[in-house]
Amino acid sequence: MATMMRTADVDLTPSLKQSASVIVDVAASVPASATAVSEPVRSSGDVPAPVGLDRATLNAAGFTGAPGETLIIPRSDEPTLVLVGVGDPSGIDAARLRDAAASFARGARNHARLAIDLDVLVGVPFDVAAQAIVEGALLARYRYDTFRQQPSGTPLEALTLVARPEHHDDLARGVARAKITAAAAQLARDLANAPATHLTATRLGELAKELAAERGIEVEVFDRDALVEMGCGGLLGVNAGSAEPPRLIKMSYRPKRGPATGHLAMVGKGIMYDSGGLSLKPSDASHQAMKMDMSGAAAIFGAISALSALDCASAVTGYLMCTDNMPSGTATRLGDVLTIRGGKTVEVTNADAEGRLVMADGLVLATEDRADAIVDIATLTGAMMRALGDGMAGVMGNNQAFVNQVLGAAETTDEPLWQFPLNRRYRPLLDSPIADMRNIGGENAGQIVAGLFLEEFVGSTPWAHIDIAGTMEATADDSWRPRGAIGFGTRLLIELALGFTPVSS
Ligand code: BES
Ligand code: MN
Ligand code: ZN
Repeated sequence: MATMMRTADVDLTPSLKQSASVIVDVAASVPASATAVSEPVRSSGDVPAPVGLDRATLNAAGFTGAPGETLIIPRSDEPTLVLVGVGDPSGIDAARLRDAAASFARGARNHARLAIDLDVLVGVPFDVAAQAIVEGALLARYRYDTFRQQPSGTPLEALTLVARPEHHDDLARGVARAKITAAAAQLARDLANAPATHLTATRLGELAKELAAERGIEVEVFDRDALVEMGCGGLLGVNAGSAEPPRLIKMSYRPKRGPATGHLAMVGKGIMYDSGGLSLKPSDASHQAMKMDMSGAAAIFGAISALSALDCASAVTGYLMCTDNMPSGTATRLGDVLTIRGGKTVEVTNADAEGRLVMADGLVLATEDRADAIVDIATLTGAMMRALGDGMAGVMGNNQAFVNQVLGAAETTDEPLWQFPLNRRYRPLLDSPIADMRNIGGENAGQIVAGLFLEEFVGSTPWAHIDIAGTMEATADDSWRPRGAIGFGTRLLIELALGFTPVSS
């Protein structure tokens, strides 16, 4: 490319078109157009007849039927058969099916038209199974090819679930949901994968506006002047060093049919790029991933854009706190004091602990809007990544009944969470000699200290905080998570919104 592509020339949300173009349907037999078909194989018992091979032969080929395994069997006049390990039959649940479908879709990566036979299912209701399977296949085949000259793989064109006609209605329900939830997660991935110079806070605001009408949501975008007016000193303080202006993107979904059953607020960290500011990060692997420091905002963006199609009964308001964090002559200095909306003052003792500063303004706005509960999602701390690795995100909160709803949603969508204690004994670590608080604690328990910081801004509103620092990115293909941005939390937030019931504070 002779010149750098400008933001305007680049499609920052390629999934919108791709998701719409994949045909997912239900049929009584494998369609003639399918070129690859899956065959689930358990780790014990008889090998299904269509395989035509006995267990000893499969074992000799290195295939035992354990979850995650695949074995490709080319056939001359029939679709390629892809054996997919599903493990011990007693352990087959929706998550296992999602993983198996992901393994199949990845094993059949050169095939555009896939079929999955579902008649062998045990235990999992057909609608739930269909949703999990379609999510797994669609999410595993996601590619981010915006900046490549050639596509990096064969795009998926069609996926057919094959089962007896009496199951078709249930399956179709699950398929319809999965298309929406997978598209939402893929949208979040598009946003997190986009380079920071292309996807600025301004551009994200425009994308939200563009989506609003067609997705039945209302979007308001607040610019720097508005943020000054609103007293959002956290977001403005983090933005101070940047040549790019900040944006608060407020996305509101309201149920069309009848009064809302509750009002859930979602606050997302939208650091478009986290250089560390004047506390500049070293040029290491974690700095390289910092275009994804808006993964929390991206998850909310994806989730809220899906709620109308899913006929969510709760009202949901998203607050996407967007800016990059840059060093410059105008950047916030160490020792500076910021005033968060609502009046609390914070001494900035580390410019790289910027996420909590922008989140604070968002949490205050959410409490002012009288949400029944607030969930926040943020790539907040390296400490959480070190504690849990890349397989689980951390959650903490001030209301166990609400945290339980979040944990339940995570269980359903298999975006695993582990709860951390919000122990007040660490609160003095945030004391400042000159302001109401400072923005970092000591060396240890950084994820808990960050949680305690956020807790200062939610008052008595039931609140849960999800720290997705470790789970924002996959460094290698893994089940439904291809290498790159995962979109972690998007399906979880959808599930939480769909099942939300207000709790008492
Ligand atoms: N965005 C980072 C946290 C992060 C690290 C996310 C790695 C994903 C992967 C956050 O803004 C940050 O820099 N946190 C600091 C806080 C510290 C200065 C108290 C951290 O965790 O090192
Ligand atoms: Mn930082
Ligand atoms: Zn950050």
